[in-house]
This record gives sequence, C-alpha cells and structure tokens, in this order.
Amino acid sequence: MKKFRLLIVLWVLFSMVPGGFSQIAGTAHDFSTESWAPLNNRGCGVCHTTHQAVNLLSAPLWNHETTVVAGYTLYNSPTFDGSSTITEPGASSKLCLSCHDGTVALENFGGTTSGTNYINPSARIGGVAGNDLSTEHPISFDYTDALAISDGGLFPPTTTNSGLGNTIDNDMLFSSRMECASCHDVHNRYGVSHLLKMSNVNSELCLTCHNK
Ligand code: HEC
Ligand code: HEC
Ligand code: HEC
Ligand code: HEC
Repeated sequence: MKKFRLLIVLWVLFSMVPGGFSQIAGTAHDFSTESWAPLNNRGCGVCHTTHQAVNLLSAPLWNHETTVVAGYTLYNSPTFDGSSTITEPGASSKLCLSCHDGTVALENFGGTTSGTNYINPSARIGGVAGNDLSTEHPISFDYTDALAISDGGLFPPTTTNSGLGNTIDNDMLFSSRMECASCHDVHNRYGVSHLLKMSNVNSELCLTCHNK
C-alpha cells in the first residue's frame, strides 16, 4: 500500500511537468548518470523528494540543501531603477543558488551534508566566493509597469506579450519580481539551449523586456 501511494505521488509529479524526463533528459540538469548521486535517487531526487521535504514555498517537495550564503553583494549601477526594491535573492532563486553559487555540494540532498562535488566553475554564479551578485543580471527586484515608465527602456510587463503565451508578468515574473527563472526553465520545458525560456538569437530574450 505504501509503495502504491509512492507510485501515485511520483506519477502525479511526472504528469505535472509537461514531457517529464523527455525534456530534462540530456540536459545539464539530467543527473541520472552522475556518479556523485546515489543510484536509487538520481534524476528528480537530487532536487525533489516525496517525503520530508525542505519547506520552501517556491518549490514543491524540495530535497536539496540550500545555499549557506547569508548576505550577497547585490547588483547596483547608477542607471538601475530597481535599487529601491532589490533584496537578497528570493526563495525561487535561492533554489538555483543552492548549487550554482558553489557553496553547497551537489550531492547534499536528502539529508546528506558531507558532499565533496561542487558545480563546475563555468556554471558558477556569484564569483569565486559565491556571494557576489553585483556582476550578474539583476534579480529579486520589482519589475512593474511603473518601473517600465520611469526607466523608459522597458516594456510594461502586465500588458506586453512575452511570446510564451501570456504577458511578461504572467510568464516570466514571480509576484512581479525578476528571478533566475524569469529567463531560465530548470526542467528545459522550452527545449532551448542554456535552459532558457526562449532563444537569445538576435537578443530575442533581452528584447522581450528591454525596449532598445
Ligand atoms: C536541478 C533541480 C531540479 C531537477 C533535477 C528537477 N526539478 Fe522540478 N523543480 C525545480 C525547481 C527549482 C522548481 C520550482 C519551479 C521552477 O523554477 O520551475 C521545480 C518545480 C517542479 C514542479 C512544480 C512546478 C511545475 O513546473 O510543474 C514539479 C511537478 C516538478 N518540479 C517535478 C519534477 C520532476 C518529475 C523531475 C524529474 C524529471 C524534476 N522536477 C527535476 C528543480 C528541479
Ligand atoms: C542540484 C543542483 C542544481 C540546482 C538546484 C540547479 N542547478 Fe543548474 N546546473 C547544475 C549542474 C550540475 C549543471 C551543470 C554544470 C556544468 O558542469 O557545466 C547546471 C547547469 C545549469 C545551466 C547551464 C545549462 C547549459 O546547458 O548551459 C543553467 C542555465 C542552469 N543550470 C540554471 C539553473 C537554474 C535557473 C536553477 C534554478 C531554477 C538551477 N540551475 C538549479 C546543478 C543545479
Ligand atoms: C535576464 C535573463 C537571465 C537571468 C535573470 C539569469 N540568467 Fe542565466 N543566462 C542567461 C542567458 C541569456 C544565458 C546564456 C549564456 C550567456 O549569454 O551568458 C545564461 C547562462 C546561464 C548559465 C550557464 C553558464 C554561462 O555563464 O553560460 C548558468 C549556470 C546560469 N545562466 C544560471 C543562472 C542563475 C543561477 C540565475 C539567477 C541567479 C540566472 N542564470 C539568471 C540569462 C539569464
Ligand atoms: C524578463 C525581463 C528581462 C529580460 C528577459 C532581460 N532583462 Fe535586463 N533587465 C530587466 C529589468 C526589469 C531591469 C531593470 C532595469 C532598470 O531598472 O534599469 C534589467 C536590467 C538590465 C541591465 C542593467 C541596467 C542598469 O541600468 O543597470 C542590463 C545591462 C540588462 N538588463 C541587460 C539584459 C540583457 C543583455 C538581456 C538578455 C540576455 C536581458 N537584460 C534580459 C528585465 C529583463
């Protein structure tokens, strides 16, 4: 009976991701052949679990140890209009930084805390120490119509079509905020290289939001 219930939960999880493994398979997030992951828990299990999940609202049934950085150096520039609302990375981006800022080992999931394999330097976000977001595209700030108007070089997110089916606000923002997953899809739902939500050939991705 317990096994059956587990199967149902797994089936529901799979069916919620369009295509399931067919999309994540073969991507950088396909951990099914990684030797650092225990055999019975490769694949989805590196990030999700069916039981005793880390309680994070932004990801269902999260299984990975989260970043240990308590305070990042945030993005700023003289022309950046989001500085009044920018904060430490939101929960959704923290999930990415759990592996990508290089402070937590890849195999630290499901309660393991003694891992020794860290993300390759080429995929590290946050500099050598992992806590510097000042040289990355800004995240975790409000991108509202008001910001677009005051900036003058952005499309208003609630009325502009993203090209993904709905508005920028609906398809790319999280409670009107920019996060890593504004541009990326962790499961490769869109089948675009670099796990992007759309191709950036001819700056298509950038020009979805930036009116330049
Ligand atoms: C690299 C980490 C990672 C892996 C591997 C991963 N996920 Fe996710 N998953 C996430 C994150 C992060 C979210 C939060 C929402 C988002 O960013 O898309 C999420 C959200 C979800 C959701 C809820 C939202 C949605 O997109 O429907 C489901 C269901 C899900 N994942 C299932 C799976 C399954 C099934 C697998 C294995 C085929 C898998 N995930 C592999 C990181 C991962
Ligand atoms: C469990 C750890 C883990 C989590 C969580 C995770 N990643 Fe990754 N990600 C990896 C690994 C490992 C690679 C491969 C790095 C390498 O060796 O090049 C990778 C690669 C990538 C790449 C490069 C893909 C390519 O083909 O160039 C992107 C983009 C990426 N991740 C985005 C994200 C985003 C966005 C999130 C959060 C929504 C996230 N990742 C969460 C482990 C993770
Ligand atoms: C504004 C869009 C945008 C945001 C926000 C964004 N990325 Fe990216 N990311 C890209 C693009 C475009 C690429 C493709 C390579 C390039 O042009 O640098 C990329 C590449 C990557 C890569 C591959 C390594 C590399 O440098 O090529 C990783 C890993 C990655 N992003 C992770 C993240 C994480 C983690 C976050 C949040 C902290 C994030 N990204 C936020 C657009 C974005
Ligand atoms: C989902 C929407 C979105 C996407 C996609 C996006 N950006 Fe942005 N970007 C923003 C917003 C909003 C700001 C904040 C603008 C401001 O206040 O100056 C910003 C800020 C910036 C800044 C800093 C501006 C400053 O004054 O400091 C640069 C540079 C930039 N983006 C370049 C890019 C590039 C290059 C791409 C494509 C790889 C891209 N953006 C994709 C929404 C986006």
